[in-house]
Amino acid sequence: MIKSIIKGSGSYLPEKVLTNHDIAKMVDTSHEWIFERTGITQRHIASDNQFTSDLAYEAALKAIESSGIHANELDLILLATSTPDQVFPSTAVKVQHMIGAKESAAFDLHAVCSGFVYGLTTANAFIKTGEYKKILVIGAETYSRIINWKDRSTCILFGDGAGAFILEAAESTDDNLSAGILKTRIKSDGQYADKLYCNGSSSSNDEDDRYIQMNGREVYKHAVEKQTSIVNSVLLSSGLTIDKIDWFVPHQANLRILDATAKKLNFPKEKIIITVGEHANTSSASIPIAMDCAIKDGKIKRGDVIMLVSFGSGFTWGATILRY
Ligand code: UT7
Repeated sequence: MIKSIIKGSGSYLPEKVLTNHDIAKMVDTSHEWIFERTGITQRHIASDNQFTSDLAYEAALKAIESSGIHANELDLILLATSTPDQVFPSTAVKVQHMIGAKESAAFDLHAVCSGFVYGLTTANAFIKTGEYKKILVIGAETYSRIINWKDRSTCILFGDGAGAFILEAAESTDDNLSAGILKTRIKSDGQYADKLYCNGSSSSNDEDDRYIQMNGREVYKHAVEKQTSIVNSVLLSSGLTIDKIDWFVPHQANLRILDATAKKLNFPKEKIIITVGEHANTSSASIPIAMDCAIKDGKIKRGDVIMLVSFGSGFTWGATILRY
Protein backbone atom coordinates (compact mmCIF):
# COMPACT_ATOMS: atom_id res chain seq x y z
CA MET A 1 0.00 0.00 0.00
CA ILE A 2 1.02 3.66 -0.32
CA LYS A 3 1.62 5.76 2.79
CA SER A 4 2.34 9.47 3.17
CA ILE A 5 5.57 9.94 5.08
CA ILE A 6 6.74 13.22 6.62
CA LYS A 7 9.89 13.89 4.68
CA GLY A 8 10.67 17.33 6.13
CA SER A 9 9.30 20.22 8.17
CA GLY A 10 9.92 23.90 8.73
CA SER A 11 8.44 26.87 10.55
CA TYR A 12 8.74 30.60 10.72
CA LEU A 13 7.75 33.23 13.25
CA PRO A 14 8.07 36.96 12.51
CA GLU A 15 10.73 38.86 14.44
CA LYS A 16 8.47 41.28 16.27
CA VAL A 17 7.25 40.05 19.66
CA LEU A 18 4.26 41.52 21.48
CA THR A 19 4.11 40.60 25.17
CA ASN A 20 1.09 40.60 27.46
CA HIS A 21 2.60 43.68 29.12
CA ASP A 22 2.62 45.43 25.74
CA ILE A 23 -1.08 44.56 25.22
CA ALA A 24 -1.90 45.81 28.73
CA LYS A 25 -0.79 49.25 27.50
CA MET A 26 -3.31 49.04 24.64
CA VAL A 27 -6.48 47.65 26.32
CA ASP A 28 -7.80 47.16 29.84
CA THR A 29 -6.14 43.85 30.73
CA SER A 30 -3.10 42.49 32.57
CA HIS A 31 -0.38 39.91 32.04
CA GLU A 32 -1.76 37.98 35.02
CA TRP A 33 -5.31 37.77 33.60
CA ILE A 34 -4.13 36.65 30.17
CA PHE A 35 -1.64 34.11 31.53
CA GLU A 36 -4.06 32.64 34.05
CA ARG A 37 -6.91 32.22 31.48
CA THR A 38 -4.84 31.14 28.47
CA GLY A 39 -1.20 30.31 29.36
CA ILE A 40 -0.09 32.89 26.78
CA THR A 41 2.80 35.25 27.60
CA GLN A 42 3.66 36.64 24.13
CA ARG A 43 2.95 36.35 20.40
CA HIS A 44 4.83 37.16 17.17
CA ILE A 45 3.50 39.84 14.82
CA ALA A 46 4.26 40.24 11.11
CA SER A 47 5.83 43.53 10.04
CA ASP A 48 3.78 45.92 7.89
CA ASN A 49 5.36 44.68 4.67
CA GLN A 50 5.08 40.96 5.52
CA PHE A 51 2.10 39.06 4.16
CA THR A 52 0.87 35.52 4.76
CA SER A 53 2.71 34.40 1.60
CA ASP A 54 6.00 35.75 3.01
CA LEU A 55 5.60 33.77 6.23
CA ALA A 56 4.54 30.69 4.26
CA TYR A 57 7.55 31.07 1.97
CA GLU A 58 10.02 31.09 4.89
CA ALA A 59 8.46 27.97 6.43
CA ALA A 60 8.27 26.23 3.04
CA LEU A 61 11.96 26.90 2.31
CA LYS A 62 12.98 25.30 5.60
CA ALA A 63 10.70 22.30 5.00
CA ILE A 64 12.13 21.81 1.51
CA GLU A 65 15.68 22.08 2.83
CA SER A 66 15.07 19.55 5.61
CA SER A 67 13.39 17.13 3.18
CA GLY A 68 16.32 17.07 0.75
CA ILE A 69 13.99 17.37 -2.26
CA HIS A 70 13.95 20.13 -4.87
CA ALA A 71 10.97 22.51 -5.21
CA ASN A 72 10.67 21.44 -8.86
CA GLU A 73 9.85 17.90 -7.75
CA LEU A 74 6.67 19.00 -5.91
CA ASP A 75 3.41 17.78 -7.45
CA LEU A 76 1.13 19.87 -5.28
CA ILE A 77 1.15 22.75 -2.78
CA LEU A 78 -1.71 23.03 -0.29
CA LEU A 79 -1.82 26.21 1.74
CA ALA A 80 -4.18 26.27 4.70
CA THR A 81 -5.04 29.83 5.65
CA SER A 82 -7.92 32.05 6.70
CA THR A 83 -5.84 35.21 6.18
CA PRO A 84 -4.88 35.00 2.48
CA ASP A 85 -2.90 37.86 0.91
CA GLN A 86 -5.83 38.66 -1.39
CA VAL A 87 -9.32 37.36 -2.10
CA PHE A 88 -7.75 35.95 -5.28
CA PRO A 89 -5.47 34.60 -6.62
CA SER A 90 -4.74 32.02 -3.97
CA THR A 91 -1.81 32.61 -1.64
CA ALA A 92 -0.63 29.10 -2.58
CA VAL A 93 0.16 30.13 -6.17
CA LYS A 94 2.21 33.06 -4.89
CA VAL A 95 4.23 30.72 -2.68
CA GLN A 96 4.57 28.32 -5.61
CA HIS A 97 6.20 31.11 -7.62
CA MET A 98 8.39 32.27 -4.71
CA ILE A 99 9.88 28.82 -4.14
CA GLY A 100 10.17 28.07 -7.88
CA ALA A 101 7.95 24.98 -7.90
CA LYS A 102 7.32 25.06 -11.63
CA GLU A 103 5.78 21.57 -12.02
CA SER A 104 3.19 21.66 -9.24
CA ALA A 105 -0.45 22.61 -8.82
CA ALA A 106 -1.28 24.91 -5.90
CA PHE A 107 -4.41 25.92 -4.05
CA ASP A 108 -5.59 27.36 -0.74
CA LEU A 109 -7.63 25.38 1.71
CA HIS A 110 -9.87 27.10 4.23
CA ALA A 111 -10.75 25.34 7.48
CA VAL A 112 -9.53 28.05 9.89
CA CYS A 113 -7.70 26.59 12.94
CA SER A 114 -8.26 23.05 11.63
CA GLY A 115 -6.69 23.97 8.30
CA PHE A 116 -3.49 22.03 8.74
CA VAL A 117 -5.18 18.75 9.71
CA TYR A 118 -7.60 19.29 6.80
CA GLY A 119 -4.54 19.92 4.60
CA LEU A 120 -2.77 16.76 5.71
CA THR A 121 -5.93 14.73 5.23
CA THR A 122 -6.40 16.14 1.71
CA ALA A 123 -2.73 15.63 0.79
CA ASN A 124 -2.88 12.06 2.12
CA ALA A 125 -5.89 11.34 -0.12
CA PHE A 126 -4.02 12.74 -3.16
CA ILE A 127 -0.98 10.59 -2.36
CA LYS A 128 -3.10 7.48 -1.99
CA THR A 129 -4.30 7.89 -5.60
CA GLY A 130 -0.75 7.04 -6.66
CA GLU A 131 -0.64 10.07 -9.00
CA TYR A 132 0.89 12.54 -6.53
CA LYS A 133 4.24 11.72 -4.94
CA LYS A 134 5.48 14.87 -3.23
CA ILE A 135 3.22 17.43 -1.59
CA LEU A 136 3.99 20.59 0.37
CA VAL A 137 1.38 21.34 3.05
CA ILE A 138 1.58 24.76 4.70
CA GLY A 139 -0.37 26.46 7.47
CA ALA A 140 0.24 30.22 7.45
CA GLU A 141 -1.58 33.12 9.06
CA THR A 142 -1.42 36.84 9.81
CA TYR A 143 -4.24 37.14 12.35
CA SER A 144 -2.78 40.45 13.53
CA ARG A 145 -4.54 41.92 10.45
CA ILE A 146 -8.02 40.69 11.40
CA ILE A 147 -7.83 41.33 15.14
CA ASN A 148 -9.69 44.26 16.63
CA TRP A 149 -6.85 45.63 18.78
CA LYS A 150 -9.45 47.45 20.91
CA ASP A 151 -11.28 44.22 21.84
CA ARG A 152 -9.61 42.73 24.92
CA SER A 153 -11.60 39.51 24.70
CA THR A 154 -9.97 38.49 21.39
CA CYS A 155 -6.78 40.54 20.80
CA ILE A 156 -4.94 38.70 23.57
CA LEU A 157 -5.36 35.29 21.96
CA PHE A 158 -3.75 35.31 18.52
CA GLY A 159 -0.35 35.61 16.80
CA ASP A 160 1.22 35.31 13.34
CA GLY A 161 3.35 32.48 11.96
CA ALA A 162 3.73 29.65 9.47
CA GLY A 163 4.62 25.96 9.48
CA ALA A 164 5.08 23.43 6.68
CA PHE A 165 5.50 19.69 6.07
CA ILE A 166 6.66 17.88 2.94
CA LEU A 167 4.77 14.62 2.44
CA GLU A 168 6.15 11.93 0.19
CA ALA A 169 4.55 8.73 -1.11
CA ALA A 170 6.22 5.54 0.11
CA GLU A 171 5.43 1.87 -0.55
CA SER A 172 4.59 0.45 2.84
CA THR A 173 2.98 -2.32 4.82
CA ASP A 174 -0.61 -1.90 5.97
CA ASP A 175 0.16 -1.70 9.68
CA ASN A 176 0.97 0.81 12.39
CA LEU A 177 4.65 -0.11 12.52
CA SER A 178 6.01 1.60 9.42
CA ALA A 179 6.37 5.39 9.09
CA GLY A 180 3.63 7.60 7.66
CA ILE A 181 0.10 8.81 8.25
CA LEU A 182 -1.73 5.93 9.94
CA LYS A 183 -5.23 7.39 10.19
CA THR A 184 -6.69 10.83 9.67
CA ARG A 185 -10.22 12.15 10.09
CA ILE A 186 -11.88 15.56 9.69
CA LYS A 187 -15.33 16.83 10.67
CA SER A 188 -17.37 20.03 10.66
CA ASP A 189 -20.70 21.37 11.89
CA GLY A 190 -21.89 24.63 10.34
CA GLN A 191 -24.68 25.19 12.84
CA TYR A 192 -21.98 26.86 15.00
CA ALA A 193 -20.74 29.24 12.28
CA ASP A 194 -21.83 32.30 14.29
CA LYS A 195 -19.82 31.33 17.40
CA LEU A 196 -16.44 32.33 15.91
CA TYR A 197 -16.27 34.27 12.67
CA CYS A 198 -14.75 37.15 10.77
CA ASN A 199 -16.42 38.88 7.83
CA GLY A 200 -13.31 40.80 6.77
CA SER A 201 -12.88 41.03 3.01
CA SER A 202 -15.83 38.77 2.36
CA SER A 203 -19.07 38.97 0.42
CA SER A 204 -20.73 40.39 3.54
CA ASN A 205 -22.05 43.94 3.34
CA ASP A 206 -21.54 44.55 7.04
CA GLU A 207 -18.72 47.10 7.34
CA ASP A 208 -18.66 46.87 11.16
CA ASP A 209 -17.90 43.17 11.20
CA ARG A 210 -14.45 43.10 9.66
CA TYR A 211 -12.72 41.71 12.76
CA ILE A 212 -12.81 38.40 14.64
CA GLN A 213 -16.01 37.88 16.64
CA MET A 214 -16.13 35.11 19.20
CA ASN A 215 -18.27 33.53 21.88
CA GLY A 216 -15.30 32.36 23.98
CA ARG A 217 -17.22 30.14 26.40
CA GLU A 218 -19.01 28.23 23.61
CA VAL A 219 -15.77 27.78 21.66
CA TYR A 220 -14.01 26.51 24.77
CA LYS A 221 -16.71 23.96 25.60
CA HIS A 222 -16.94 22.56 22.06
CA ALA A 223 -13.13 22.52 21.61
CA VAL A 224 -12.65 20.18 24.57
CA GLU A 225 -15.61 17.96 23.72
CA LYS A 226 -14.96 17.62 19.97
CA GLN A 227 -11.20 17.17 20.20
CA THR A 228 -11.67 14.42 22.78
CA SER A 229 -14.23 12.59 20.67
CA ILE A 230 -12.23 12.73 17.43
CA VAL A 231 -9.05 11.53 19.14
CA ASN A 232 -10.98 8.54 20.49
CA SER A 233 -12.50 7.93 17.07
CA VAL A 234 -9.17 7.85 15.16
CA LEU A 235 -7.62 5.72 17.89
CA LEU A 236 -10.44 3.22 17.52
CA SER A 237 -10.17 3.07 13.73
CA SER A 238 -6.37 2.71 13.86
CA GLY A 239 -6.49 -0.11 16.40
CA LEU A 240 -4.14 1.85 18.67
CA THR A 241 -4.74 2.77 22.29
CA ILE A 242 -3.85 6.11 23.91
CA ASP A 243 -0.82 4.65 25.73
CA LYS A 244 0.80 3.98 22.32
CA ILE A 245 0.92 7.73 21.54
CA ASP A 246 4.41 9.15 22.20
CA TRP A 247 3.50 12.80 21.63
CA PHE A 248 0.29 14.74 21.45
CA VAL A 249 0.50 17.88 19.22
CA PRO A 250 -2.78 19.75 19.65
CA HIS A 251 -3.88 23.03 18.09
CA GLN A 252 -2.36 25.69 20.33
CA ALA A 253 -5.36 27.85 21.26
CA ASN A 254 -5.34 28.00 25.02
CA LEU A 255 -3.45 26.05 27.70
CA ARG A 256 -6.64 25.39 29.63
CA ILE A 257 -8.22 23.77 26.56
CA LEU A 258 -5.13 21.55 26.15
CA ASP A 259 -5.17 20.59 29.84
CA ALA A 260 -8.90 19.85 29.89
CA THR A 261 -8.70 17.73 26.70
CA ALA A 262 -5.69 15.76 27.97
CA LYS A 263 -7.45 15.19 31.29
CA LYS A 264 -10.58 13.84 29.57
CA LEU A 265 -8.38 11.52 27.48
CA ASN A 266 -6.35 10.50 30.52
CA PHE A 267 -3.21 11.51 28.62
CA PRO A 268 -0.04 12.56 30.54
CA LYS A 269 0.72 16.31 30.34
CA GLU A 270 4.49 15.76 29.92
CA LYS A 271 3.81 14.15 26.53
CA ILE A 272 1.96 17.19 25.15
CA ILE A 273 3.88 19.61 22.93
CA ILE A 274 3.00 23.09 24.20
CA THR A 275 4.05 26.28 22.41
CA VAL A 276 0.98 28.44 23.02
CA GLY A 277 2.81 30.35 25.78
CA GLU A 278 5.35 31.83 23.36
CA HIS A 279 3.38 31.86 20.07
CA ALA A 280 -0.30 32.29 21.15
CA ASN A 281 -2.91 30.94 18.71
CA THR A 282 -1.56 31.01 15.13
CA SER A 283 -4.65 29.19 13.76
CA SER A 284 -3.78 26.79 10.90
CA ALA A 285 -0.05 27.35 11.54
CA SER A 286 -0.06 26.29 15.18
CA ILE A 287 0.23 22.50 14.73
CA PRO A 288 3.07 22.48 12.15
CA ILE A 289 4.96 25.15 14.13
CA ALA A 290 4.58 23.17 17.38
CA MET A 291 5.61 19.91 15.72
CA ASP A 292 8.58 21.48 13.93
CA CYS A 293 9.79 23.09 17.20
CA ALA A 294 9.53 19.72 18.97
CA ILE A 295 11.50 18.02 16.18
CA LYS A 296 14.21 20.71 16.31
CA ASP A 297 14.32 20.48 20.14
CA GLY A 298 14.94 16.74 19.82
CA LYS A 299 11.71 15.80 21.64
CA ILE A 300 10.00 14.17 18.64
CA LYS A 301 12.20 11.50 17.06
CA ARG A 302 11.89 9.30 13.97
CA GLY A 303 9.69 6.31 14.80
CA ASP A 304 7.57 8.14 17.40
CA VAL A 305 3.79 7.92 17.16
CA ILE A 306 2.22 11.38 17.07
CA MET A 307 -1.38 12.46 17.53
CA LEU A 308 -2.31 15.80 15.94
CA VAL A 309 -5.68 17.27 16.90
CA SER A 310 -7.36 20.51 15.95
CA PHE A 311 -10.49 22.55 16.50
CA GLY A 312 -11.61 25.83 15.00
CA SER A 313 -14.23 28.10 13.55
CA GLY A 314 -16.99 26.40 11.60
CA PHE A 315 -16.89 24.48 13.81
CA THR A 316 -14.25 22.32 12.16
CA TRP A 317 -12.15 19.68 13.87
CA GLY A 318 -9.87 16.80 12.99
CA ALA A 319 -7.19 14.39 14.15
CA THR A 320 -4.26 12.64 12.49
CA ILE A 321 -2.19 9.76 13.88
CA LEU A 322 1.18 9.34 12.23
CA ARG A 323 4.42 7.51 12.79
CA TYR A 324 7.17 10.08 12.24
O1 UT7 B 1 -9.05 28.25 17.88
C1 UT7 B 1 -10.08 28.60 18.74
C2 UT7 B 1 -9.89 30.06 19.17
N1 UT7 B 1 -10.62 30.46 20.33
C3 UT7 B 1 -10.32 30.07 21.59
O2 UT7 B 1 -9.48 29.28 21.85
C4 UT7 B 1 -11.11 30.71 22.70
C5 UT7 B 1 -11.65 29.76 23.71
N2 UT7 B 1 -12.14 30.49 24.86
C6 UT7 B 1 -11.31 30.94 25.82
O3 UT7 B 1 -10.13 30.68 25.77
C7 UT7 B 1 -11.89 31.75 26.95
O4 UT7 B 1 -13.29 31.81 26.82
C8 UT7 B 1 -11.30 33.18 27.03
C9 UT7 B 1 -9.83 33.13 27.45
C10 UT7 B 1 -11.43 33.90 25.68
C11 UT7 B 1 -12.06 34.03 28.08
O5 UT7 B 1 -12.03 33.38 29.32
P1 UT7 B 1 -13.39 33.20 30.16
O6 UT7 B 1 -13.03 32.61 31.44
O7 UT7 B 1 -14.37 32.45 29.30
O8 UT7 B 1 -13.85 34.70 30.36
P2 UT7 B 1 -15.24 35.41 29.96
O9 UT7 B 1 -15.28 35.68 28.50
O10 UT7 B 1 -16.39 34.69 30.56
O11 UT7 B 1 -15.08 36.78 30.71
C12 UT7 B 1 -14.96 36.86 32.16
C13 UT7 B 1 -14.70 38.32 32.52
C14 UT7 B 1 -15.67 39.30 31.87
O12 UT7 B 1 -15.91 40.33 32.80
P3 UT7 B 1 -17.27 40.36 33.66
O13 UT7 B 1 -18.39 40.42 32.66
O14 UT7 B 1 -17.26 39.08 34.45
O15 UT7 B 1 -17.12 41.60 34.49
C15 UT7 B 1 -14.88 39.87 30.72
O16 UT7 B 1 -15.30 41.18 30.36
O17 UT7 B 1 -13.38 38.70 32.08
C16 UT7 B 1 -13.47 39.90 31.29
N3 UT7 B 1 -12.41 39.87 30.28
C17 UT7 B 1 -11.18 40.35 30.52
N4 UT7 B 1 -10.62 40.89 31.61
C18 UT7 B 1 -9.32 41.23 31.53
C19 UT7 B 1 -12.47 39.38 29.00
N5 UT7 B 1 -11.28 39.54 28.41
C20 UT7 B 1 -10.45 40.13 29.32
C21 UT7 B 1 -9.11 40.53 29.30
N6 UT7 B 1 -8.57 41.06 30.43
N7 UT7 B 1 -8.32 40.36 28.22
